[in-house]
Amino acid sequence: MKTAALRHFLDLDVLETGTLRRILDMGAAFKAKRPLGGDAKPLAGKTLAMIFEKPSTRTRVSFEVGIRQLGGEAVILSHLDTQLGRGESIGDTARVLSRYCDAIMLRTNRADNLAELVRHATVPVINGLTDLSHPCQVMADVMTIEERKGDIAGKVVAWTGDGNNVAASWIHAAKRFAFELRLACPEPLRPHADVLAWAKREGARIQLLTDPDAAVRGADAVVTDTWVSMDQEGTARDNREKRHNLLAPYRVDERLMGLAKQDAIFLHCLPAHRGEEVTASVIDGAQSAVWDEAENRLHVQKGILAWCMA
Ligand code: CP
Ligand code: NVA
Repeated sequence: MKTAALRHFLDLDVLETGTLRRILDMGAAFKAKRPLGGDAKPLAGKTLAMIFEKPSTRTRVSFEVGIRQLGGEAVILSHLDTQLGRGESIGDTARVLSRYCDAIMLRTNRADNLAELVRHATVPVINGLTDLSHPCQVMADVMTIEERKGDIAGKVVAWTGDGNNVAASWIHAAKRFAFELRLACPEPLRPHADVLAWAKREGARIQLLTDPDAAVRGADAVVTDTWVSMDQEGTARDNREKRHNLLAPYRVDERLMGLAKQDAIFLHCLPAHRGEEVTASVIDGAQSAVWDEAENRLHVQKGILAWCMA
């Protein structure tokens, strides 16, 4: 039995600003241990299934700890040790898990797999990262910027590096939270044409640049990510080398960080590769907010779970 009212957390472009704000508010309230509605264990008796097609530290642990703290349970599944690995369809898996569990989180190599899960699930589905987006991460990033610098509306966020899945969720967030996003990416590694077209249609405040200095100058936050995302790891060695060569000028070092506002913060979703996309002096330096950012995954995840499942 499927109802139209299932609260999927799929992408920031398909959720309204009011919903995203409510999730952030709930996350902040859980962090302050003053949950909105007063119920610290709103998910007692509920179970979240999590399917991982690729590795995870933060997403896995923050969701698992988060649901436990809210009174529920998590079941962690790898596609390798379930029948998915032997060819059982995502649709059949979705139907079965929906009979046991109250929500399903998926981390997948293909956004199509997430769409297929949603088509067949009768419980809420959460996007735990695809090749195209990483909305849970960027919600935690918005929370981190607002903790340090107040309302993100009107602020300037600079992304420098690969126009990847995390960058796509930043583009969605720029529209939803009304900030200016400057992306500096090499031409061949620009964000996906679909997300750029969406931003244009929606009138998001996006500047697409190739010069990292121009993107970072005067920014409130400087953000980067790995040069080789998980869905690119299988690519040939010469392709990896090509990516490294293209992306080297986009590394966040002290010089680049020095162009941002004096009180600018540095963000990175992690895992990081010191000496590649960011120098140790920046990620381990005074302007880095990456550990708060990682912690905020837990608080935001709780907001997402409470919104989807309560
Ligand atoms: N940032 C992030 O999603 O980390 P994991 O891959 O460890 O989950
Ligand atoms: N862009 C990275 C993010 C990891 C959390 C990847 O997809 O591997």
